[in-house]
Amino acid sequence: MSTAIEIDDLSFAHTGADLPALERVSFRVSAGESVALLGPSGAGKTTLLALLDGRLQGWSGRVSVLGAPLDPDLPPPSARRSDTGFVFQEFALVERSTVLRNVLNGRLGRMSPLRALMGSSTKHDLEIARTVLADCGISDLAERRVDSLSGGQRQRVAIARCLAQEPRLILADEPVSNLDPARAGEILALLAGAAQARGATALFSSHQPDLARRFAQRIIGMRAGRIAFDVPTSELNDDATAELYREVEPIPGIGLRAVS
Ligand SMILES: Nc1ncnc2c1ncn2[C@@H]1O[C@H](COP(=O)(O)OP(=O)(O)O)[C@@H](O)[C@H]1O
Ligand SMILES: [Mg+2]
Repeated sequence: MSTAIEIDDLSFAHTGADLPALERVSFRVSAGESVALLGPSGAGKTTLLALLDGRLQGWSGRVSVLGAPLDPDLPPPSARRSDTGFVFQEFALVERSTVLRNVLNGRLGRMSPLRALMGSSTKHDLEIARTVLADCGISDLAERRVDSLSGGQRQRVAIARCLAQEPRLILADEPVSNLDPARAGEILALLAGAAQARGATALFSSHQPDLARRFAQRIIGMRAGRIAFDVPTSELNDDATAELYREVEPIPGIGLRAVS
């Protein structure tokens, strides 16, 4: 099976930070797998996903996405890939535009620069948009403005926009943490199901073990920038999970550091 993500000995510190956000991270994800990054706030999940999306520079180690190495010196937008889709926690939609317009925005990376500049969509783009709206159960919302929608509806739009991009890799950063528990389960089922139906690889982060367990085949536990465990979901152990969430102690003059 081909490899969708390959990370070897990755370390990264944000500018001005005392401690690295990622420390000696290594793992691989096979094409078609659904994997959850599980860990408490500050574990490094957002940093890792942003890095895989080509948005961070100056890291060390080796990272390959969909068979091509990422260059730690290459700034966005060049480092971003049109076949990698991203779903954000806070939806990141154009609030004053319609649902359809937002979903068509997902096609921008697939259009010629001129067409993207003019914002004109082809029949093919429209067909894809209609299909993903139906897949996400929001065909009837196509002409509604995003600022009139509920949180769950917004996240469906964000997923539809991501799918309109026809991604081979879907990265999602806590895609359901702004939703109530019932909605959260529905949306993660939609995301994982859509990835699977398309043969796409999905890597999503979560701070909730129960949700990670329900929707991922494999769980990578993160704590303080490091990989604490990497197991098939069926082998997730309650003690190992509790260990991720153990208190961190402030060290005078240094900041927060995990107790080891
Ligand atoms: N822009 C930034 N500048 C400085 N430090 C940051 C920045 N973003 C995140 N960090 C730090 O990097 C670490 C990892 O954060 P993050 O990746 O957001 O973790 P998570 O998503 O698991 O909550 C934390 O210690 C956080 O404070
Ligand atoms: Mg985060």
